[in-house]
Amino acid sequence: MYPDLRGRTALVTGSSDGIGAEIALRLSIEEVEVIVHGKNPEKVERICSKIREASSNKSRVHQFVADATKPEQISRFFETKMPQIGKLDILVNNIGGIPGIKTFEKVSDEEWYDTFTLNVMAPVRFTRLALPYLKRSAQARIINLGSAASMQPGVNNPHYLAAKTGLVNLNKYLSNDLAKYNILVNMVCPHTIKGGAWFRDIRNITNNTGVSLEQAAQQLENSVKIKVPLNRVGTMEEVANLVIFLASNSASFINGECIFVDGGTKRSIF
Ligand SMILES: NC(=O)c1ccc[n+]([C@@H]2O[C@H](COP(=O)([O-])OP(=O)(O)OC[C@H]3O[C@@H](n4cnc5c(N)ncnc54)[C@H](OP(=O)(O)O)[C@@H]3O)[C@@H](O)[C@H]2O)c1
Repeated sequence: MYPDLRGRTALVTGSSDGIGAEIALRLSIEEVEVIVHGKNPEKVERICSKIREASSNKSRVHQFVADATKPEQISRFFETKMPQIGKLDILVNNIGGIPGIKTFEKVSDEEWYDTFTLNVMAPVRFTRLALPYLKRSAQARIINLGSAASMQPGVNNPHYLAAKTGLVNLNKYLSNDLAKYNILVNMVCPHTIKGGAWFRDIRNITNNTGVSLEQAAQQLENSVKIKVPLNRVGTMEEVANLVIFLASNSASFINGECIFVDGGTKRSIF
């Protein structure tokens, strides 16, 4: 537990499912007032009620329904709802990802633009709008979700990899620029995690090959864990653990870092 987090307010983008939902739940256990964001209102409400149940209604929770690729939808929340909430201490730029798996020659211009819109421009826009609030916080944090592949490209999805690498640079830039306001900016870079996109990947394998969901899950697990020195796939909890630590006062002198949650998969010393 991190008592210094109690009573702080956090916005976790893309928190109605996957890793973001896990982060939102964990923050609420620390008695952080959480803003749950997603595109689908039912999914946002589902996580909000899970948070209310888990905290016996002790943690306040807010709904933020907006398509992160539509700037006017993001702005509307900051214009209408944020003044009522009144404060923000932690921004977790969790949203990101790609639909499907493609090699360079299969990725269209439109897919390149869409991927940059979700993985780079969404964090840019959320950060810009959150800054007036973060500047007034006594313990301000921006935590960006990168990927182990931000630093070491794999064989697929060059558009996603390039976007996440761009975010590494932005992470460093913001950490330098915002230090004068005591806003700490760090990045969490997971290797493939059992959660979020993982379940879509299993369904894709099933659809493409006709194997059962159980067989697809086993295939995926085997193909991932062989790359990991710890010989297993990481969990959403293990990603959330680092995010919570970085949000806390225990991480008060960590700034501009890009920290891997990858079981040692990144082999390089840089
Ligand atoms: N999962 C992994 O193995 C892994 C590995 C490395 C890095 N990462 C990174 O970790 C982060 C989270 O990954 P994840 O796998 O948990 O993601 P995910 O399952 O794809 O994320 C789903 C969440 O994002 C929301 N979302 C997606 N598109 C949206 C949009 N246009 N507007 C608003 N909300 C949107 C979803 O809301 P709706 O359902 O309502 O649309 C849901 O809340 C990403 O940045 C990803 O790149 C993940």
